[in-house]
Amino acid sequence: MSKITGFGTYAPEKIVDNHYFEELIDTNDEWIVSRTGIKTRRMAAEDELTSDMCVKAVENLMANSGQEIKDVEFIIVCTTSPDQTMPNTASRIQNKMGIENAGCIDIYAACAGFVYGLQIAHGFINSGIYKKVLVVGAEALSRITDYTDRTSCILFGDGAGAAIVEASEEEHFLSFNSGTDGDLGHDLYLTRQNNIINGKEAVTNGKILQNGRTVFKWAVGSIPVKVRELVAKAGLELDDIDFIVPHSANLRILEAISKDLNFPMEKIPESVTDHGNTSSASIPLAIEKEISKGTIKRGMIVLMIGFGGGLTFAGTIVKW
Ligand code: COA
Repeated sequence: MSKITGFGTYAPEKIVDNHYFEELIDTNDEWIVSRTGIKTRRMAAEDELTSDMCVKAVENLMANSGQEIKDVEFIIVCTTSPDQTMPNTASRIQNKMGIENAGCIDIYAACAGFVYGLQIAHGFINSGIYKKVLVVGAEALSRITDYTDRTSCILFGDGAGAAIVEASEEEHFLSFNSGTDGDLGHDLYLTRQNNIINGKEAVTNGKILQNGRTVFKWAVGSIPVKVRELVAKAGLELDDIDFIVPHSANLRILEAISKDLNFPMEKIPESVTDHGNTSSASIPLAIEKEISKGTIKRGMIVLMIGFGGGLTFAGTIVKW
């Protein structure tokens, strides 16, 4: 049995508002707010890597929970924008934070990453392989955003969120689901770039390309169905859920989910207004906002569901 025992986030200092884009592309604040709800997003400093943001989120987790992390046995980083593919970002955290004996993997599941990470951590713990797992969702999306593409560049932001999942006396993970519509893979994807690094050929991340309309329709059509499925799998009713935290892709997507489920927006935390779409960091950033307001408290029932490039989704219900 397992539970989340520590939680922390990080957002880079630099705040970018919508007027920034008026200089770069043909757009305006009113269009961006009306179509997405986004008012600002954060951008990593030039020398700030995804692994640096992970470390900051873990430090925040330690400060929030008073936890030591030297005894973490496994680190899972969920990201689409790693420092590089090898060594993986989890190994960078292991090294930077001096976590002596931890297995390290990165998983690439785009905006569903953080919830997939929690599912894997729960599986490791409940099978008895490990007792304490660190899950970090972190993105430097500003590095893989095409700032000449007005249909996508206004959406993305940078940030990180971290959770410790540990063995516990009572099961706090109440249900899970996941799935993929691979047919729609070409509607949201990352290009590759062949670069020369230190005189040698290297493949690095390119830029995000998407068909926004298709992704929007897929999300509003499928996520409410998957939310209902998660609730039923846990043997609960929607009324039993204190908060539903979907990936903060676009405020209009969250409003459509709210309407479909007849579930009030006040109980759907979001991070997209202030942070933009931060992919695998968006769910932790949304939860952190509620924790700091005192609305999400221990013992509450919180449903998380991430969705994005794949097109893939992953959900879980936890007793916080
Ligand atoms: N500023 C001003 N106009 C813009 C614009 C911008 N930044 N981007 C696109 N437009 C224009 C289009 O060119 C189009 O003009 P046209 O009618 O003259 O051809 C018009 O606005 C409508 O474009 P459309 O793409 O249909 O807009 P939309 O209402 O679907 O909104 C998104 C676009 C990207 C905001 C929306 O589709 C979306 O958020 N999709 C989900 C994307 C997402 O969440 N991706 C990540 C998932 S994890």
